[in-house]
Amino acid sequence: MRVRSTVLSMSTSRTGNLSTRRALAGWEIWEIDLSRNMLRRARAKLPAAHLLEADLSSGLPDGRPESFDRIVPGYVFQHFGDPTKIDLILQMTASLTDRGLLLVTSIAFETDAQLFSVRESAGETWDLSEHGWVANRMIPSLIEKGLAVRFEPFPIAEALSSSAPESDG
Ligand SMILES: C[S@@+](CC[C@H](N)C(=O)[O-])C[C@H]1O[C@@H](n2cnc3c(N)ncnc32)[C@H](O)[C@@H]1O
Repeated sequence: MRVRSTVLSMSTSRTGNLSTRRALAGWEIWEIDLSRNMLRRARAKLPAAHLLEADLSSGLPDGRPESFDRIVPGYVFQHFGDPTKIDLILQMTASLTDRGLLLVTSIAFETDAQLFSVRESAGETWDLSEHGWVANRMIPSLIEKGLAVRFEPFPIAEALSSSAPESDG
């Protein structure tokens, strides 16, 4: 019988809000981050959590439980190109319990054209080292790998474009 629910949180949060709430609810928390500093912050907020220092671009690290009830990569996928994203998603879905869920929070676009449009509006504030998600490219690749995937947009891209500074003229 399962005694505790387990959650694997990728890229430990600066605020720790989600993990802290789950810890209070009795979940067993596992956190992965490349940054020792981030893990130190996580330790302060989550004294009982299991912390793993690892570079996710090489895949999920050893030393973790076989499966998790929730896997929650929070704003980390933008650090990886499409092939690494796909490898990680496959590894994560293979590491879920029967009724487990993978919950990815990230900024995504339906098409490359949308991504380019928002990048143009953002100007110099756009971080060129980050790789956006483009659903039209990713979904066929994930379906080809045997996953059932659908894209449900939340209109953050529209919100970003409409909040672009207006010209003085
Ligand atoms: C934008 S922060 C997101 C923090 C938090 N999850 C949140 O939602 O607020 C990105 C995090 O990813 C971590 N990170 C970046 N590249 C990584 C990698 N290759 N492997 C593991 N963690 C990485 C950073 O150290 C940082 O903590």
